[in-house]
Amino acid sequence: MEEMKTIQWFPGHMTKTKRKIESQLKLIDAVAILLDARVPYSSCNPDLRSIINNKPRIAVLNKCDMADPSETKKWIALLKEKGIAAIALDCKTGKGLNTFIPTVKNVLSDKIAAWNAKGMTGRTIKVMVVGIPNVGKSSFINRMSKQNRAKVEDRPGVTRGNQWFTIGKGFDLLDTPGVLWPKFDDQAVGEKLAYIGSVKDDVVDTETLAARLLVYLRDHHIHSVCTRYKLEREEMTGLQGYELLSLIGKKRGMLMSGGEINTERAAATVLDEFRSAVLGKITLDKAVDYPNVRI
Ligand code: G4P
Repeated sequence: MEEMKTIQWFPGHMTKTKRKIESQLKLIDAVAILLDARVPYSSCNPDLRSIINNKPRIAVLNKCDMADPSETKKWIALLKEKGIAAIALDCKTGKGLNTFIPTVKNVLSDKIAAWNAKGMTGRTIKVMVVGIPNVGKSSFINRMSKQNRAKVEDRPGVTRGNQWFTIGKGFDLLDTPGVLWPKFDDQAVGEKLAYIGSVKDDVVDTETLAARLLVYLRDHHIHSVCTRYKLEREEMTGLQGYELLSLIGKKRGMLMSGGEINTERAAATVLDEFRSAVLGKITLDKAVDYPNVRI
């Protein structure tokens, strides 16, 4: 997608974040990597693994309310198979939040046993929360701590100080020091992040984006498209993305004066309905396609 080229990963700022994370590693016991359950591969910055080095990690698949439950299960199984503890969360309702602390304690069980043996019983467990913008870090921290994570806009040049949150007796969370940008190491990653709305629409042509998304949905989730837009499968056969967009605009009566189909409005509707899972619980990154998880 031509327009994606303007959205770039910001290497300078990533270097800063990398340094900040590295400088805090000695203060923490584990890292909670927040991912979007609809794109567990694409929402993970691939450099994170080397930045956090050997720190114990917990993969948190957030927004699981909008992902395909069977795919989320497959991802959790795959991550576990790779030796990475993984949980699914829905920070909108709080579902799954109670599994977080026990999972961290389980991951750190040897360390906790060693502390206890040294008489350091009840030592505070410190976990750094990391994740690319929009995966739900604020929602997670706010829900866990019942405090409000300071609203800091994720954009180049904005710095975030160290913020600690107590989430229970002897359990603290450290917010990501800096902004962990996504990395568009292949075009598909950038596109998927744009589909879910993690890349701002003002830098992407929404009609092109919605047209491409519709082709993907027609090819992989045709039932959802047919049901939502009251279309027959045959009507969509062989159509290009823009034609699909026009078809939906027409079906929804989105016409401009003069009778032309308002494809801009149709695009906004499609993207909005996809992003809010009105089109269904759809996981874009299928576990089977990513046997080498990059966490
Ligand atoms: P960030 O700090 O990592 O950037 O993410 P943040 O918590 O701000 O969440 C980004 C958006 O995702 C927010 O929506 C938030 O409500 C939503 N969100 C977070 N966790 C979940 C979840 O588990 N399920 C669902 N469905 N949504 C989730 P927003 O529209 O940007 O803000 P708001 O209107 O909710 O305030």
